[in-house]
Amino acid sequence: MLTRAPGQQRVPRGQAQHEVGHSMKLQPAHRARRFFSSFRRRDVDPAIEAPLLAPLTTSERELFDRFSPYDRGHALDVASAVHRHAPDAYQDWVPTAALLHDIGKTASDPGTLTRVVATILDWLGFRPHAARWSESSGTVKTIGLYLRYQEIGAELLAEAGSDRRAVAWALEHHSPESVWTVPVADGRILAAADDGMLD
Ligand SMILES: [Fe+2]
Ligand SMILES: [Fe+2]
Repeated sequence: MLTRAPGQQRVPRGQAQHEVGHSMKLQPAHRARRFFSSFRRRDVDPAIEAPLLAPLTTSERELFDRFSPYDRGHALDVASAVHRHAPDAYQDWVPTAALLHDIGKTASDPGTLTRVVATILDWLGFRPHAARWSESSGTVKTIGLYLRYQEIGAELLAEAGSDRRAVAWALEHHSPESVWTVPVADGRILAAADDGMLD
């Protein structure tokens, strides 16, 4: 179940200043939760994992297998939450969106410290430099790629032939609901699961 009461207004993701594919939401509580959860390495029961991964195509499964253990755990958490709380929605493009919305992070594979630095730089408004940084080298390149992970994820899913709505969700999942191009009902479930807001 969603933790919000039916009809309760959801705070738009990312607030008004964040645009699709351009800027990541601030979400300090979300970021803090995700940051501390990144220290937990989860071993997911294969019996639970298998049905969650079953809808992926071969190309999508190859992408999924690129995840670090931490991002893999997050992806499975999101998919599991959607599957448990909205089983009817877990079909078509939604499993791909749940499991692979953060797939762009595999392009940089930053360590925890680099993620923290990138997050702080994002908070401080340095995201417009990300494209240039991603052409650089070393840690600067890693940070640049990490800050562009939504665009990169959309590109990876498009190359894999994924449903256009899953491609869109990779790009839009930190953007305000007002600019989503995916079905809003599905987007709300995915967003709530991504934010850890489902029971
Ligand atoms: Fe994300
Ligand atoms: Fe996520």
